[in-house]
This record gives sequence, structure tokens and C-alpha cells, in this order.
Amino acid sequence: MTPESGRPRVRVEFPAMTAGQNAAAATGEAAPNEAAVGEAVLQGREAAPSRAVAGGGEAAALRPVDGVALVTIDRREAMNAIDRATMEQLVEALERLDGDPTCRCVVITGIGDRAFAAGADIREMSEQTAASIAATGGFQRWDRIAQVATPLIAAVKGYALGGGCELAMTCDMVVAASDAVFGLPEVRLGVMPGAGGTQRLTRAMGKAKAMELILTGRNLSAVEAEAHGLVSLLVPRAAVIASALALAETIAAMPPLAVRAAVQAIDQAAELPLGEGLAAERKAFYALFETEDQKEGMRAFLEKRPADWKGR
Ligand code: CAA
Repeated sequence: MTPESGRPRVRVEFPAMTAGQNAAAATGEAAPNEAAVGEAVLQGREAAPSRAVAGGGEAAALRPVDGVALVTIDRREAMNAIDRATMEQLVEALERLDGDPTCRCVVITGIGDRAFAAGADIREMSEQTAASIAATGGFQRWDRIAQVATPLIAAVKGYALGGGCELAMTCDMVVAASDAVFGLPEVRLGVMPGAGGTQRLTRAMGKAKAMELILTGRNLSAVEAEAHGLVSLLVPRAAVIASALALAETIAAMPPLAVRAAVQAIDQAAELPLGEGLAAERKAFYALFETEDQKEGMRAFLEKRPADWKGR
């Protein structure tokens, strides 16, 4: 029995934010009590819809972040390294949220300030053989994350290395703190990226940069990662969770069928030749004209009122 056995390695919460944090996220500034968001200022779905939290001197009312779940990898003692149990719990949590129609966007982060996730668990991996890796079905779990239809946002503080970087790249968007560090250092361990890193980094940055980074195992600053197309939003460290939640809430307020169709089409841009990608886009576009939300969205625009999305 290790000290962490029995303790959940992944937490799912339905977060709440103060108005100040929301405004701070919009401007990229840190709100006075932002440090508490993602760590303590969270409430379960059953909890009261708002409560007071001490911060910046005054108690501020919290409101739920509509349609958004926050999933936190909780292995602080190992820099949130992803062992088999963590991966199983992560996939189980994401599958549950993907089947929940009230959850429209998910933010994934790591506990604490030091790491989003420092990779697959090297201690556990060091004992493995090719046969044992194949037998545990670990990579099928990684594939399942890529298949989650609900938009996923990685909120990265500190290290996102190896499998941690691959998890961030598997998400649909990355919100990075200014101190975030990305990298695929697997060659230094005598292996290579195995959870999509060679493919997703190359698609994001191009062959020249991917070769340099993967063959040397060099880490990448958040600024460099953003410049090379790995990061959607770069924000101050103290604003990263609030910014990711605010982005998630904006997406969660959009018509869900249109959002899911767009996510799928954008993903196909990296997988299909242009002609096939354009044909897939057109098919999805036509399909949306068969939805109630298309009628409602266009009617609401013409009637100058907010749309009431049904997800149908
Ligand atoms: N697996 C297991 N444990 C890890 C870990 C990992 N990936 N990363 C960090 N830890 C553990 C350390 O062993 C250490 O534990 P102890 O206190 O029990 O010794 C603890 O976390 C703190 O780490 P450090 O003392 O090393 O902290 P640091 O600040 O000096 O360095 C770091 C931080 C740069 C992230 C460093 O820990 C590091 O280089 N980690 C490994 C990164 C890596 O190589 N990742 C790739 C893994 S392979 C992979 O992911 C394969 C794949 O494609 C799926």
C-alpha cells in the first residue's frame, strides 16, 4: 500500500467564480482571490447555488460557471504524473461528463502550481515490457480521450511534459500560464513520445520544430509554445483557471450541436486531405440545418433577442 492508494487521483467539480474573477479572466488580470479558484472555491452540483468566499478583504458572492466541469489531476507528490490508476479515473470522469447533457465544456488541470502533469509515471513505466503495456490497454484509454465530443480545455500551470504535454495537445484548446513549460523529453529516458506526441506536435508546429524538440528533449516556454501554435490563450499564472473557466463558459453558452460539429470538423482538418475535409465540413453544415437550434439562432438574430438553445 502506497500513501496515496485508495485516494482519488482525479477530482471532478462544478466550479463557481466571483464577478471579480470573471472580469479578471476577461482582461487577463489576476483577481485578488484568484489563487483560491481551482483549489478551494469550488462547489459540488448539489451545493447551494452561491456562497460567500473570503478574498481581497471582502466576502464575494460566488455563482456557478454554467455548463462547465473542472477535472483536476491530484497527484501532487508525483508532479501529477499519470499512472494507470490516474488514467483510468480520468477516462471514467470524462466519459461520464461526455454523457451528461448539462455539461457543455470541460476544463482539465493539475493540482497545485508546479505541474499540469509531468508525464506518464516513470516509476510505474520502468517495470513494464512491450507486452505488459499492450496488455493493459493504456493507449486505448488515450484514444478514448481524443474521442470525447464535449470540448476539452487544458489549463496548464507549471510543467506539461511527456504524457502531460500529450494530454494538453489531445484537448481541443490550451490555456497556458506565463510560467507553463511544455516538452516531450521521452528520448532522454530511452524511449519516444507514445501518446500522440510525434503526431500532434508535428501537426501543431511543423516538422522542423517538432524534430528539434523531440530529438533533444528540450523544454519550451509558454511564450515559445504560443508562438508555435500550441496555446490558445497565454495568461498570467494567477489567472489561468479563471481564464479557462471563462472561456469554457462562453463555449458552454453556445448551441451544443453546432459546437460539437465544429470541433469534429476542425479535428478533421489535421487528418483528411483538403477535398475530403471540405466535403465533411459541408455535410456537417447541411446537417445543422436540420436542427431546431439553427431555426432558433437565425430567428433570434432577426428578432434581436438572445437565442434559447435546445441542443436539438
Ligand atoms: N513520473 C513519476 N514521478 C515523477 C515524474 C514522473 N513523470 N515527474 C516527477 N516525478 C516525481 C519525482 O520522482 C519526485 O518524487 P520524489 O519526491 O518521491 O523523489 C517528485 O515528483 C518531484 O519531482 P522532482 O524532485 O524531480 O522535481 P524538480 O522540480 O526537480 O523537477 C521535473 C521537476 C522537471 C518535472 C522533473 O520531475 C522531471 O523531469 N520529471 C520527468 C519528466 C519526464 O521525463 N516526463 C516524461 C515521462 S515519459 C512519458 O510521458 C511517456 C509518454 O509518452 C506517455
